[in-house]
Amino acid sequence: GLLILDYGSQYTLLIARRVRELGVYCEIWPCNDARVGELIDAGSAPARGVVLSGGPSSVHIEGAPALQGGILSWEVPVLGICYGMQLLAKSFGGQVDRARGGGEYGRTQVIVEAARGPMAGFETGHATEVWMSHGDAVSALPEAFEALARTENGHLAAMAHRERPIFGVQFHPEVSHSLEGTAMLESFVFEVCGCPDTWNMADFVESAIERIRAQVGDEGHVICGLSGGVDSSVVAALLHRELGERLTCVFVDNGLLRYQERERVQALFEGHFGIDLRVVDASERFLSALAGVTDPELKRKRIGELFVRVFEAEAESIENARFLAQGTLYPDVIESVSVLGPSATIKSHHNVGGLPEQMGLELIEPLRELFKDEVRVLGRALGLSAELVDRHPFPGPGLAVRVLGEITEDALRKVRQADHIFIESLRAEGLYDQVWQAFAVLLPIKTVGVMGDQRTYDEVIALRAVTSKDGMTADRGHLPMEFLGRVSDRIINQVEGVNRVVYDVTSKPPGTIEWE
Ligand code: XMP
Repeated sequence: GLLILDYGSQYTLLIARRVRELGVYCEIWPCNDARVGELIDAGSAPARGVVLSGGPSSVHIEGAPALQGGILSWEVPVLGICYGMQLLAKSFGGQVDRARGGGEYGRTQVIVEAARGPMAGFETGHATEVWMSHGDAVSALPEAFEALARTENGHLAAMAHRERPIFGVQFHPEVSHSLEGTAMLESFVFEVCGCPDTWNMADFVESAIERIRAQVGDEGHVICGLSGGVDSSVVAALLHRELGERLTCVFVDNGLLRYQERERVQALFEGHFGIDLRVVDASERFLSALAGVTDPELKRKRIGELFVRVFEAEAESIENARFLAQGTLYPDVIESVSVLGPSATIKSHHNVGGLPEQMGLELIEPLRELFKDEVRVLGRALGLSAELVDRHPFPGPGLAVRVLGEITEDALRKVRQADHIFIESLRAEGLYDQVWQAFAVLLPIKTVGVMGDQRTYDEVIALRAVTSKDGMTADRGHLPMEFLGRVSDRIINQVEGVNRVVYDVTSKPPGTIEWE
């Protein structure tokens, strides 16, 4: 397949998606991944082709992520996108400068000058609309290179080595605004690299199981953190296939769960899968660790750490239990860690950025390279029920990040009841599957109301519903106002201490889906 080296672009994930949609296997590695150096030393290429992603840095900044020259000694085709193209230009002796006018952002027309590499599918002179987003530009081509495309103003938009299969594009073919971008990736992946288009979910299962086998060995026992959501359930099902009795799932009741969640998970997993399931009631530990904590990142870190401590304690009573499996997805990774200084940590997802530094268990994360919608496809392929697979996502830190400010039993009760009313109403009125995720948030402010001729001074529930494909970007859910009104009435009538309901209409970006 294909290797994508990530230089910190927000679009790297999209490159992977496009490639997988073409039926080609690919992996994303951070550009500074230790495996790159090892494979350069060994002289063996990890893939049939390499894509260098874009990134927020500038090749002129000291300490900016560099191109490890050895990658070119693998002798496999290389495609540099945006920052990746600038890295190639620089390393072949071209010139990279601040672009005229400070950069190009947005839609741009480019004209094909040579129908090779990513442009092989077009005729010379063909004009196509692409998406630019760059501050630097290649101002002088390296001697060994020629232009493949230019903008209408004559700026270089794509380049190719004259003899070797090394290409660069200044724009982002992976975003949907680049109207023929997929065709360009298709040409690179199939014609230039010769990747087979045989990848599908069944292959993913097979290769994931192979990797698990190699990591766990014949004796190892795995603890799987099970939340009852899609991701961890898919991991459990996947591991169960390979490990059988050498798998123990641990469901932690952290006191931050939704209405009757524990009972639901117990019924589902004990009944259907025949998986060894342990339910640990750690709610007091979590709630006391969160007492007085209002900072969202601190909440996330405390929760992430306690989860791991609970799993470690369980592991102690099981022979050879050295591994912790969890349902980490690619968006959790990208939003939690900044591989390179400039790409910001948005929030510490409990199972990535929220993990403690010292851990007694080795991580197994089979879904780390997948997106939510791909995990759903995988879940179906593994035979999980539609009810489970199509459930809305629920964050690991649970209701803790939906009680803004301090977490108390009473606040949890309010948000739990309100959430239950909202979700049940969505289901009852056939709207549940029309949104990607929906939930209630308790705001730490009081407003004045009037109920039964009495003045009330109570808290506010915000309802949020979004549409999305993979949670990376999201749009406000268009729920009927009459429906929202009915939910509001129910919440205010049934949830003591709440006298006002508002609806959040923010998209992502600029908001995130959760409020903390
Ligand atoms: P945000 O709020 O970052 O959320 O836009 C994107 C998706 O991720 C979920 N989320 C989490 N999931 N652990 C998780 O397993 C976490 O710490 C976490 N934080 C957010 C969120 O519910 C949404 O579906």
